[in-house]
Amino acid sequence: MPERPGAGDRVRAYAPGRVNLIGDHTDYAGGLALPMAIDLGTTIDGTRRGRTVVLSSDAEREPARVPIDVVDPAGATPRWARYVAGVVAEVQPSVGFTGRVSSTLPIGGGLSSSAALEVAVALALGFEGDPAELAALCQRAEQRSSGVPSGIMDQLASAAGEDGMAMLIDFTTLEIAMVPVPGNVEIVVIDSGQSRELTASAYADRRAEVERAAAVVGPLRDVPTADLDRIESSVVRRRARHVLTENARVLSFAAALAADDPATAGRLMIESHVSLRDDFEVSTTALDALVDRLTRTGGVYGARVTGAGFGGCVVALTEPGALGGEGWTVRASAGARLLD
Ligand code: GLA
Repeated sequence: MPERPGAGDRVRAYAPGRVNLIGDHTDYAGGLALPMAIDLGTTIDGTRRGRTVVLSSDAEREPARVPIDVVDPAGATPRWARYVAGVVAEVQPSVGFTGRVSSTLPIGGGLSSSAALEVAVALALGFEGDPAELAALCQRAEQRSSGVPSGIMDQLASAAGEDGMAMLIDFTTLEIAMVPVPGNVEIVVIDSGQSRELTASAYADRRAEVERAAAVVGPLRDVPTADLDRIESSVVRRRARHVLTENARVLSFAAALAADDPATAGRLMIESHVSLRDDFEVSTTALDALVDRLTRTGGVYGARVTGAGFGGCVVALTEPGALGGEGWTVRASAGARLLD
């Protein structure tokens, strides 16, 4: 990374979005997931100066204007400025910033455009530290600005990605094992077209249910399936069962990728979708129909909802060209960095 830029210096910071291949609603349970940073992302180009962070955006009508001593990031306007404000409040820069945001990511489409924005803003403001620290700071920023108790997966995938690699993340230790994505498959992301309006409260409910389960049986990472019988509420038991089975699927999926066995990997993605649909209840009719159509298409190994759910995107693992250009074909890519 270039030397830390000072006041008056031109800065260009880039952070990618992510797609999660398997392992959803496991990060805040100390579980496992296998996301990858993608070749779509957000760039911030500007100069460090003044006492305010002023960012205009290709995708937004109104700029974000955030004083460097902002205290209430959730109250910032326009809406997208909350994410900028959350990062400013966490980084506490001594100098402001004036610049422009441009992004190749679909906004709000489930590819972590907000995490990419946060990580790029933190780097532009002069954050120093390793990718795990960068991700933790941006996770706090996200929680402060959105009020959603989100996990660290999106920010960590954006901060720590590597070219050609998916990332097997252990959220108990934050250890990352890089898993090469085989060259003979394609990863395709398809937007369901359904916006994720209800995500905030439903996400918090799910997280609370997972925590209720852990309060009865202990950290879900280490629990034998039989122990789940001790959980009285059938809903909470199903949430916990999703986390346990999903953790196991993540490990099997990583092994299938390493063994160049896309058929098994695809089957595990379909099982993951079913678990997110039936046990975790974060799918929707539109997502189910999309997964159903994709998995019945020739050359598609598997497909599943990716990310929080309640709308947003589906990810498919396919033979090259199987979906004939539908959606975004994404490649595993390097993580966030300052550009020259
Ligand atoms: C959102 C959150 C992540 C993670 C996923 C579900 O993307 O930001 O932390 O919990 O949902 O896997």
